Amino acid sequence: MPSGQYDFVVVANRLPVDKVGTTDDGEPLYETSPGGLVTALAPVMRSQHGAWVGWAGAPDESGDAFDSDGMHLVPVELSGQDVEDYYEGMSNGTLWPLFHDVIAAPEYHRHWWDAYVRVNRRFAEAAAAQADSGATVWVQDYQLLLVPAMLREQRPDLRIGFFNHIPFPGYEIFSQLPWRRQVIEGVLGSDLVGFQRRSDATNFLRACRRAAGATTRGSSVHVGHGGEGDGHRAVRAAAFPISIDARSFEELASDSAVVARAAEVRKELGDPDLVLLGVDRLDYTKGIRHRLSIFKELIEDGALGDKQVVLVQVASPSRERVKAYSDLRDEVELIVGRLNGDHGTVGWQPVHYLHQSFPRNEMAALYLAADVMLVTALRDGMNLVAKEYVAARHDDDGVLVLSEFAGAADELAQAVLVNPHDIDGTKAAITRAASMSREERRRRMRALRRRVKEHDVERWAQEFLGSLQGRVGARDGGSGIESGSGERER
Ligand code: F6P
Repeated sequence: MPSGQYDFVVVANRLPVDKVGTTDDGEPLYETSPGGLVTALAPVMRSQHGAWVGWAGAPDESGDAFDSDGMHLVPVELSGQDVEDYYEGMSNGTLWPLFHDVIAAPEYHRHWWDAYVRVNRRFAEAAAAQADSGATVWVQDYQLLLVPAMLREQRPDLRIGFFNHIPFPGYEIFSQLPWRRQVIEGVLGSDLVGFQRRSDATNFLRACRRAAGATTRGSSVHVGHGGEGDGHRAVRAAAFPISIDARSFEELASDSAVVARAAEVRKELGDPDLVLLGVDRLDYTKGIRHRLSIFKELIEDGALGDKQVVLVQVASPSRERVKAYSDLRDEVELIVGRLNGDHGTVGWQPVHYLHQSFPRNEMAALYLAADVMLVTALRDGMNLVAKEYVAARHDDDGVLVLSEFAGAADELAQAVLVNPHDIDGTKAAITRAASMSREERRRRMRALRRRVKEHDVERWAQEFLGSLQGRVGARDGGSGIESGSGERER
């Protein structure tokens, strides 16, 4: 295949753009929507002449590649059937629940798998067409697990990285997947595979041995049977915990309009003594049902004393056509309705439930208004909300209650860590957070803020790309990751 002209190519399920209209010729018009990933990658994209390959987020959306803010954006078209079978089906009905420890039951359908293979090939071909000879290609996440090997097959000259944003499950769970060998072989097309936590990398290495019969040594997987230069390669798997653009979030939260809005939010809530906050995509992995049950018990027990307490729960709409998500919405809304019905009074309700997405400045105001932030996910790759809360708290106040099952728990040890399945333990943690002294809150928040500011998203991208391009070492150290070979069982 002839090479394209870009030295650096990002391949992700979604493009970093919003559709803002249509041209007179009926072509879609986009604008870049800078999320964490694009903010981190924008300087690399500009300096390394970068292209971003991804789906525009709506079915049958075709359109030519276009340049925006120093980036070349290349839309990949998905038909309505592709969206159903590849995105809602295989990605979010099979891999998402499987990789999140089967909190919801994964479904295995051969026609979903066929669509996944077909669409992954389309992404790989689009990336191969953009990449210059010897370019670096960085593939993102579980929707595109087969892309690295497909790319390598077409373009062995490329340097290929893969980053898994979500957890990688233990082999006892991963081995349910009927296509486990193909998935592992797909990822092993990479030179470097990045994970959020060391435990994810360890699980992946074990899956390489068990599902694909590969030999591993420390953090390396040996691929191919011949000697060096004879199709033999070493693939590294290591932890590179993702982060946020902490400085810009802090700046935003320090803006006087945002600070004023935070005070206004508390007033609008009825000036309660204690504001608890949850911010999540409405996803069963986030533990929203557990959180509401725990909050209900806290109110009924009177464990928070005679404080007037409010829980603000932002639950942004997500994957609404997948049944597990529409069922979850029904359940959450039933629980919230009952809780407010049983415990509210005229003019006051304990839960403020917002099934909406908000702009960044409103989120920053909510973070500033909250005394206690509840990030009680049942399973989460990282959880960037936890890091946003910390970055926003330039007043060194507020307490973060954080699930030990979120990747962020590896880094944010000064949070109040909880097991969200342990109802009494989580209730005690929230009670403790609510009555923590100002001095302890400040000490913990300062340490958390140091960590988040030092390890921001720019550093994450630099460390991954530096490691992929052979400049710096990853934070796996190789130690603690077991070695082995020949465990294949099929
Ligand atoms: O956390 C994984 C992830 O795919 C993110 O990359 C993304 O922002 C989020 O889930 C939402 O997913 P979707 O693209 O399916 O709306």
